[in-house]
Formats: sequence, structure tokens, C-alpha cells
Amino acid sequence: MSGEGMISEARGVHGDAGAGRLKQLMQRGTDFLGTEYAIMGGAMSWVSERNLVSAISNAGGFGVIACGAMNPELLDAEIAATKTRTAKPFGVNLITMHPQLSELIDVCAKHQVTHVVLAGGLPPGGAIERIKSNGAKLVAFAPALALAKKMIRSGADALVIEGMEAGGHIGPVSTSVLAQEILPHVAADIPVFVAGGIGRGEAIAAYLEMGAVGVQIGTRLVCATESIAHANFKKAFIRASARDAIPSVQIDPRLPVIPVRALKNREMENFSAKQVEVAAKLDSGEIEMGEAQLQIEHYWAGALRRAVIDGDVESGSVMAGQSVGMVKREEPVAAIIAELVEEAVAALGARG
Ligand SMILES: Cc1cc2nc3c(=O)[nH]c(=O)nc-3n(C[C@H](O)[C@H](O)[C@H](O)COP(=O)(O)O)c2cc1C
Repeated sequence: MSGEGMISEARGVHGDAGAGRLKQLMQRGTDFLGTEYAIMGGAMSWVSERNLVSAISNAGGFGVIACGAMNPELLDAEIAATKTRTAKPFGVNLITMHPQLSELIDVCAKHQVTHVVLAGGLPPGGAIERIKSNGAKLVAFAPALALAKKMIRSGADALVIEGMEAGGHIGPVSTSVLAQEILPHVAADIPVFVAGGIGRGEAIAAYLEMGAVGVQIGTRLVCATESIAHANFKKAFIRASARDAIPSVQIDPRLPVIPVRALKNREMENFSAKQVEVAAKLDSGEIEMGEAQLQIEHYWAGALRRAVIDGDVESGSVMAGQSVGMVKREEPVAAIIAELVEEAVAALGARG
């Protein structure tokens, strides 16, 4: 069904006006993604694999495979399997510090992946050129206005601005402030998708009206029926409220921690204790600075997998954004997207 058809069906009580306005506001985003809705399913390590990604794309959104720490062979298999489940467009999210980034880009090229999302900081030299020379569109994260401008100059085709309400690794600034700081200055030049804390369609409508061409959503899709996340992981999401999704805290200024937003659990408390322990070893000269920083970094390795796949939600990391309070039940991706679209249509229709 065409985008017009789907959006018009979500008319609700406010008639054509809201549906028409939503279609108009999302047009640059849907053109860019090749989708019915300008709603990207944010890549989530272990969660955004073939099943959820294809379900999002089949429901009219844009699924994105989370490559995470996968090697090129695993990514190859994941893309191939996703293609057997959907004929619609989807993307691949690569982490810039992955040691085999070039090989992963080549795997995307082999499969003619249309959109590559680069996460995890500024890409190493040559990566952007390699992605674009293969004909893919490059989507980059921009955590500040200066970096947004730099990514545009470097060749990004679209930007995602993600605020600290989001689940997973986060920056220091809220979505609402980033949107005000960045959208007025770059939205005319490049498609911008807003992410972080979006749980309802009213928020989608608001960011579109501010100049975004679409949104990226993670937390709200974790409990989709098609998501392979363990039942315990989904249960933890359904029970949690916004205030349970807290950022990890850095204890010692010498030991940098990129904050991760996750549900409060024993593992979050242990992480503080671990930092104190490592700092003490550093003070006593038992370990060097490099080793200390490595111990901190490696602490989380495997923690997300333990929670998502094994269902150990106490000793694993239950990464979740503040919109977790709006996750009420397990339901198909199509129902989640339809609800978000209906809410956006109603909000825009009510503007009169
Ligand atoms: C469990 C989980 C894992 C995530 N893993 C990744 C990742 O591997 N790479 C990435 O770029 N973003 C990751 N994210 C962020 C999402 O892609 C998305 O941008 C974010 O969830 C949007 O904010 P929201 O959770 O408030 O909807 C993750 C988020 C969650 C909740």
C-alpha cells in the first residue's frame, strides 16, 4: 500500500487534515528512506536482528540491523537472512571503532545495502568515502551543532540527533534541547531524524513541526512480538517506569565512562563498586592507567547479551530509554507503528 493510503487510513476523529499534514511533514524522510513512514527503528545490539528489522520494514518503517561486535561473516549472514524476510528497504548500523570497519562496509556493499548508519563517534579516514563510493546513503549521528555541520561537510546524507533520554550509550544533552540547537540551522540543508524519549505520536508530530523529517525509535520497539529479546527482558520493560531508566555514573575523573542508560538493577550498583575497586588499584600502583581504563571498558562487554538473550536481568544490562514507561504490552510492530501514526495524525488534525 502507498504511504498516502496507509497514512490516510490512520485518520481518526480529526479527518483528512492531520493525515495530509503528516504525509507532507514526513515527505523528505519517506523519500530519503524509501518507506511509507519516516520512522526508523534504531539499531539495538542483540535486539535489532533479522526478525525485528524485517518486521519494522514490512510495517512501513525503516528497520536497521545492529552490527555491534559482529564480525563480517556474521553480518553477511544477518543481511542475507533479513533480505529473505522483507523486500522493503532496511539499513545497517556500524560502530566506527570496530576493528574491521572496512570489511563490514564491503559486506554492506556486496548486499547493496542502501543506507549505512555510522554510530560511535567520528568515522576514521576513508570510511565515509568507502560507504558512498558503493552507492549507499550515509546516516550519521550529530551530538552538537558543530559536529552536525562537520558531518554535512564530510558527506553525510542525513543526520540523527539523539538526546540523553534514549536507551543505550548516551550524550549529556536532552532531545528537546538538541532539537532546538540543531534543527533551525541545518534542517533546510539535510534530512534530520530526531531520537531519544519518543514514546507517542504527539512527540513525533512536534519534532516534525520543528523541522525534523522523521524520527528514530528504540525502546518502544523492544517488546514487539517479533523482537527476540528474552521474555524476562520484555517483562522488565513492561513493569518499568521512566524513572527506572537511569544513566551509569562515573565515579573517578581519571576513569572515563561513556554513560549507558539502563534499568536500575544489581549490575548498575556493582558498576560503581567496580570503579572504586579499580581506582584503589590505580592509587596503590597495582595497575597502570591503561589497564585501569580497559578494565572499566570491558566491564559492560557481554552484559547486554546476558540480559537480552539469556534473560538475566539482574546481572546483565537492561538498556532502556526513559520512554520505557510507555511500553505497556507485547504487541506486533505493525500495531505499535499504527498507534504512533494515529496519535501523530490526531495531534496534527487538532491544530486546526
Ligand atoms: C537495548 C538497546 C540497545 C541499543 N544498542 C545500540 C547500538 O548498538 N548502536 C546504536 O547506534 N544505538 C543503540 N541503541 C540506541 C537506539 O538505536 C536508538 O537510537 C534509541 O533507542 C532511541 O531512543 P529511545 O530508546 O528513547 O527510543 C540502543 C538502544 C537500546 C534501548
